[in-house]
Amino acid sequence: MNRALVTRRIPDAGLELLRQHCEVILNEEDRPLTREELLRGVAGVDGVLCLLTDRIDGEVMETARAAKGFANFAVGFDNIDVPEATRRGLPVSNTPGVLTDATAEMAWCLLFAVARRIVESDAVMRSGRWPGWGPLQFLGGDVTGRTLGVVGAGRIGQAFAMKSRGFEMPVLYADERPSETLERELGARRVDLETLLREADFVSIHVPLAPATRHLVDARALRSMKRTAYLINTSRGPVVDERALVEALQEGVIAGAGLDVYEDEPRMAPGLAGLANVVLAPHTASATITSRNNMALTAARNLIAMMAGAKAPNCLNPRVYERH
Ligand code: DGY
Repeated sequence: MNRALVTRRIPDAGLELLRQHCEVILNEEDRPLTREELLRGVAGVDGVLCLLTDRIDGEVMETARAAKGFANFAVGFDNIDVPEATRRGLPVSNTPGVLTDATAEMAWCLLFAVARRIVESDAVMRSGRWPGWGPLQFLGGDVTGRTLGVVGAGRIGQAFAMKSRGFEMPVLYADERPSETLERELGARRVDLETLLREADFVSIHVPLAPATRHLVDARALRSMKRTAYLINTSRGPVVDERALVEALQEGVIAGAGLDVYEDEPRMAPGLAGLANVVLAPHTASATITSRNNMALTAARNLIAMMAGAKAPNCLNPRVYERH
């Protein structure tokens, strides 16, 4: 019987499915495996269900010589050296689709929370120090009719943009490829990043992390945004230069930010947590019960296929199958 390593407990739906097909070796502790534990754990197993907190590089692949593939429990896969896996003929998969709406919804949560200062307001109410209604309290930014800037018009970026319909927002998007859906349904305008940053009132990031997108939003990009604009990031932390963002927020270069992801998780850049004009979520954009169950099922299905020598439904490097 095949043996699969699951590097951390995932929702039961996925574990139960896997157990119908193989022996599951599970990290029972609710924390990522250390590097040493990961290397020990992958040795000799037939497949690995890994998380975005596991760095899957050549060393891990070399140690996991018996493995027939790596199934990531995430749509993002910057934690895996996919070109190296391809060189080794190892399939790698992700979990696209099942967390699209949840992630887009979280971007909207952050957008509203930061624009309407919900976290600050909540803190005052809980403190018992609210003196009663006041005409100058917690003034924030408007959403309806303001310009929305969507950086990256893949599945999640498009879902995020489509949800703006009730708010009558002109939509700008920056992507290498035109989105027929956004242009047809929203009259969205495809522009370059500079134009988007200059014109948008809300800039929401939806690009994957890759060498070309690391620090895509840096000090210069932040300076080109409106002083009244807000930045939302639910993609990957390193897409934004977090130290530059802290400075921009401290100096009022932009009005605020809503973040779900950080450059060096679980740490945050010095000063970020002390700012009132940010809303900070702990990388939970996909954390709805339904999405996480479906991510677990999707990752399990991918791994089961890999271990059976079949093509994984969400294979990221299908070239590996061409060789056989
Ligand atoms: C992903 O899937 O890439 C998210 O960051 C976690 O669900």
